[in-house]
Amino acid sequence: MSEAQQPLRFDVVTLFPESFSAITDQGVTGRAFKRGLTQFHACNPRQFTQDRHQTVDDRPYGGGPGMVMMYEPMKQSIEFITDRVQKASPEVKPHVIYLSPQGQPLTQKRVEELAKLPQLTLVCGRYEGVDERFIERYVDEEIAIGDFVVSGGELPAMMLMDAVIRLLPGALGHQQSAEQDSFSDGLLDCPHYTRPEVVDGLPVPKVLLEGNHAKIDAWRTEQKVLRTQQRRSDLYQQWLERSKKSKD
Ligand SMILES: C[S@@+](CC[C@H](N)C(=O)[O-])C[C@H]1O[C@@H](n2cnc3c(N)ncnc32)[C@H](O)[C@@H]1O
Repeated sequence: MSEAQQPLRFDVVTLFPESFSAITDQGVTGRAFKRGLTQFHACNPRQFTQDRHQTVDDRPYGGGPGMVMMYEPMKQSIEFITDRVQKASPEVKPHVIYLSPQGQPLTQKRVEELAKLPQLTLVCGRYEGVDERFIERYVDEEIAIGDFVVSGGELPAMMLMDAVIRLLPGALGHQQSAEQDSFSDGLLDCPHYTRPEVVDGLPVPKVLLEGNHAKIDAWRTEQKVLRTQQRRSDLYQQWLERSKKSKD
């Protein structure tokens, strides 16, 4: 890490802090934590309960199935985090994200913007979700990881963290590899091949073996455009429009 680069700090409100070892202890993200490029601090709303059972949820007003996470332990979690962050870095105002299927779908563009912030507070819901009044008062942004529902916000939070961490300078072996990934230039990535040259009768495209880097770059770009056109016509149209505008 360069001297000027401050670690990106994640404060996560979760009933299951231990589940985050999947991201803090392994692979590219685990290395980024070890190198000090990023930090993880959990806050469990149960620590702000008064009763013997450490209750954080209650039945929904109006009836219906499931339980709802209560306002007060969530509020105290956010206040605890704000205090902790400001003691460490008085100039930093926490940015609070609630992972929710009702949020804006996460995109690579938003991931790139989030990677530039000094701190992210991620709120993981459980049950039917969180009391709406908490969201209205404390949440800056709601983010969804797709149009489907999972049981809790921990996996969505880890997906967001992984996507952000791999963009931090020094997190990937080759900085270029993030720039070549799908979505970074609005297109899907090109196909990749490794040894052997022929496997089960299937050869590697000849152009990749000839060592002509200009030709390889042109082939890869062509493949990216073709794939995007075939698989994601929505992204292809956006890319076409952007390309037209930049030529005008
Ligand atoms: C069972 S879900 C609640 C779903 C909620 N009743 C709804 O339909 O909008 C429990 C928690 O999982 C998380 N979650 C579920 N699906 C998600 C998604 N697609 N993106 C982000 N978070 C999600 C949220 O934190 C949510 O509070």
